[in-house]
Amino acid sequence: MAATFRLLILVLVLVVSPSVRAARDAGAVVSRIAFGSCANQSAPQPIWDAVVAFDPQVFVWLGDNVYGDNKRPFRVFGKERTVGPWKNVPRFYPSTEEELRRRYQLAKAKPGYASLRERAQVIGTWDDHDYGLNDAGKEFSGKVFTQRLLLDFLDEAEDSKRRKQAGVYTSYMFGPEGKRVKVILLDTRYHRDPLLSDGTILGDPQWQWLERELHGPQSEITVIGSSIQVVSNLSATTGPLFYVESWARFPRERERLFRLIESSKRNGVIFVSGDVHFGEIARFDCGVPYPLYDVTSSGLTQSVDNSVPAVFQPIMRLLAVLTPTTMRVLNPNCLYKSCTTGQPNFGAIEIDWNAVPPRIKLELRDVEGRSVHSVEFPISELQPSVFIIAVVLLAITCLSSILMCSKKTKKE
Ligand SMILES: *[C@@H]1O[C@H](CO)[C@@H](O)[C@H](O)[C@H]1NC(C)=O
Ligand SMILES: *[C@@H]1O[C@H](CO)[C@@H](O)[C@H](O)[C@H]1NC(C)=O
Repeated sequence: MAATFRLLILVLVLVVSPSVRAARDAGAVVSRIAFGSCANQSAPQPIWDAVVAFDPQVFVWLGDNVYGDNKRPFRVFGKERTVGPWKNVPRFYPSTEEELRRRYQLAKAKPGYASLRERAQVIGTWDDHDYGLNDAGKEFSGKVFTQRLLLDFLDEAEDSKRRKQAGVYTSYMFGPEGKRVKVILLDTRYHRDPLLSDGTILGDPQWQWLERELHGPQSEITVIGSSIQVVSNLSATTGPLFYVESWARFPRERERLFRLIESSKRNGVIFVSGDVHFGEIARFDCGVPYPLYDVTSSGLTQSVDNSVPAVFQPIMRLLAVLTPTTMRVLNPNCLYKSCTTGQPNFGAIEIDWNAVPPRIKLELRDVEGRSVHSVEFPISELQPSVFIIAVVLLAITCLSSILMCSKKTKKE
């Protein structure tokens, strides 16, 4: 009798558990998603109040969810030299497993974040500092335990497939048919070749998985989360002074991503990213046959404005304005000013499913919850058909910028 009972329970669990999960993923209409990155677990994190006030149904971590590694001081001379040709120790070094776990505990205990976790489904991926080491890729040896710690932080189920695979990439489908939002989270660390190699970011198994995800069941909107920026190429402006990580620094890999989206015929793709310590709404019209947005939210605590003394902050803002806007949003509000923000921020996606056609608003909000930059458009704009007129306009824009660039190069 007891055995039959146990069997019955087992059968019930097997039958019910996938549908419980599906209900959580596919049930309610999702119309508010928030996202963010770069949160110092040792600093106050007042921004959570604004995130909670936005009342998202889903919150997406885009990496540097904690600062797990350690930085040696900037030293040109002395016993431990971290800069210059005499450099004898690396600037960054990883933490032990115990220390990283302790930092995640600090992050999880932040009251604002705790109250967000009660209200919203929290999902996420990682970037370098929570992966374990600044700018690290596949060579980083601590990645097996750091993967476990991230998944613990995200309350990933013990039996989740995500705990058995190499890397933390995953996907979610929210909402009922006709109002579906798919969220794909990439792992830009676990399999990444060295910088400057123009090798792979995702690695073969993740590419094959991504191909299946993009070809899989339809969704009205597909949000692809990448810790590093996909559209913007800040390095093109800041190099050779300094370089930031981005898909654009792996041009072949970036092109492969755009071609995969195009060949999957998936409409409604939007990128969200983090990493750079400023917020940016970028739009790129030459990637796939419709406009590609990349909304970068960075960081929840870390920001370029706060990284310099208050007197230098106007200079930081001026630099942001002077940064070429060729890959920024072509929006009347943004045309002559940069769509970046150097203050702490979070990203907000709002979907008005009742509008015909449904409309989407992409936004960056500050610590007070105030909108800093936003764009709003019908989701039908993210498909090829409506795009034809825009293509012509854009061809002209792209062509003229190419001409301008080639002129510049000739001058040099
Ligand atoms: C985090 O905040 C603490 C306390 O303010 C500070 O000492 C530390 O340097 C910060 N870490 C980073 C990575 O900014
Ligand atoms: C981005 O800028 C870097 C540095 O100038 C350059 O090497 C790279 O090819 C650029 N990527 C793209 C996609 O334009």
